[in-house]
Amino acid sequence: MPKVTRKPLIAANWKMFKTPDEAVAFVRAFIPLVATYSHAEIVLSASPTLLPTVVAAAKGTAIHIAAQDMHWKESGAYTGETSPLQLKAIAVTHVLIGHSERRQYFNETDETVNLKLKAALAHGLVPIVCVGELLSEREAGKTASVLESQTAAALVGIDPAIAGPLVIAYEPVWAIGTGKTATPEMADEAHKIIRAQIAKSLSPEIAASTRILYGGSVKPASTAALLALEDIDGALVGGASLEPESFSQIVANSAV
Ligand code: PGA
Repeated sequence: MPKVTRKPLIAANWKMFKTPDEAVAFVRAFIPLVATYSHAEIVLSASPTLLPTVVAAAKGTAIHIAAQDMHWKESGAYTGETSPLQLKAIAVTHVLIGHSERRQYFNETDETVNLKLKAALAHGLVPIVCVGELLSEREAGKTASVLESQTAAALVGIDPAIAGPLVIAYEPVWAIGTGKTATPEMADEAHKIIRAQIAKSLSPEIAASTRILYGGSVKPASTAALLALEDIDGALVGGASLEPESFSQIVANSAV
């Protein structure tokens, strides 16, 4: 499937920032800034306490709301966790899975990523599964094998028939919040490795239609060059998504 048929997806990752008031102020300022852009799907990923407020503030617009994580079970004695049913009940539509900060600080493993991905697909949430190599892995020449093994592990036992909504985000860990961006060529090469692994794990058809986002210090000025490449279908944006102006410029610059 040529790139032109994959709709760009531009996702904000607010991480553990913003109070409900600040989140509402963002959405109110952001809506008019992106009102005329229909070339991209826009997603805001917020902390659990912000989700109902942000969903309400974005109601009636084309802006989708994502959770930054979830548990794979529908309910149970899992203190502190949020279930797919709870997210669905408040009209959250997307969910980040396996962000490197979750892998690094909160014991997220390839196995839990796989369980969460299965749960998201089963519940009709659009999963954005994050993969990416550490600096030490890149320097040791292991980037391709890390991306293949993280992608393959995430996709174990996934039925290709329900994998249509799958989104993958390639986020080199060394580029997150550091101001260091992978060059567009480095990112495109990584995306091709991931797409080839999706073809192996699921099917060539799913691989061709799956959107693969780049994340790691994306800024308005770096967006167009990234999105211009064949296998880069969008962006997952941390720091530059916290202000409506810069995030709306990233959305604008993704129209290539
Ligand atoms: P960054 O974060 O844009 O601040 O590097 C990206 C992410 O962690 O998703």
